[in-house]
Amino acid sequence: MDGVTDLPFRRLIRELSGENAPLFVSEFLATDGSGFLTPVNLRAARFDEEEAPFCIQIFGHNAEKLASAALQVQELGATFVELNAGCPAPRVANKGSGAGLLRNLPNMAKILQAMRAAVKIPVFLKCRIGWDENSICINEVLEIAEGEGVERLTIHGRTKVQAYQGLANWDIIGEVAAKAKIPIIGNGDINSMEKALSAMKNYNVKGVAIGRAVLHNPWIFNSSAKADIRSAVLRYNELMLQDGFRPMQALGRLKQLCSRLCQSTPEFRLKLLRSKTHEEFLFVVEDKPFPPINNALFSLQ
Ligand SMILES: Cc1cc2nc3c(=O)[nH]c(=O)nc-3n(C[C@H](O)[C@H](O)[C@H](O)COP(=O)(O)O)c2cc1C
Repeated sequence: MDGVTDLPFRRLIRELSGENAPLFVSEFLATDGSGFLTPVNLRAARFDEEEAPFCIQIFGHNAEKLASAALQVQELGATFVELNAGCPAPRVANKGSGAGLLRNLPNMAKILQAMRAAVKIPVFLKCRIGWDENSICINEVLEIAEGEGVERLTIHGRTKVQAYQGLANWDIIGEVAAKAKIPIIGNGDINSMEKALSAMKNYNVKGVAIGRAVLHNPWIFNSSAKADIRSAVLRYNELMLQDGFRPMQALGRLKQLCSRLCQSTPEFRLKLLRSKTHEEFLFVVEDKPFPPINNALFSLQ
């Protein structure tokens, strides 16, 4: 997730997950500029050896640039390279990148072909089910993915126009997964291990991808963990500062996590979110015990 799953965040989740750490995917890296390995992309492409197998995701609309970026991703040592065809942000989708690729399937095919020709590592695709409800094209996307040798397709069961509204359409994911020859990973609204397992059982998917729920419950992958929110928040802070984050940058990320993590205690949450400085935030964290996580209150909306 862009702006979320950078190296310090993934280190935190890995620590909290114990032996059940998931396969991590990087934030998405832009390929539109004149060079791919910009300081921003180089930073986002870093990963720990222990994270292997690791997937780096890229986005763009130019086949040549994406193929060259995929090769550089391979040279950086990633196990997999994934094309993003799901991002609904106007700055991305309106330029024909991310979910914009769903409106130009011939270009998606051309990009996947170029990426495949450029690298030896497996090429993955992550997409939404269509641009809007009148142009669901996930069946065509599956055909293209299979035809171009994509080795794994992750489907977020919403359209571009839906963005994050409503619920993911798991029936469509299930229909596609039932006929697919390549592994399908289902995505959307999974916020517990129980839901993950029931999705795998009921919708033919080989796995699930979990996004926002990791912010609601960073222990989601580790059912035997004792959720100590305060230590996790402080550890996240430590990992960011060790990684060179400025205090104000770290403050933004801490608020992002606590905004979702503390939804069951609105007053405490507000106090954290209103902190003007990093110091003030840490004072609030130290001042009062964190309330326990309330699983029943996880809401992804
Ligand atoms: C802040 C944020 C950033 C995201 N960035 C990415 C991204 O870079 N690449 C991607 O494939 N999906 C990205 N997503 C989408 C999620 O990966 C996922 O498809 C979506 O949130 C639905 O799954 P969930 O219900 O488990 O969150 C992002 C979502 C959020 C909320």
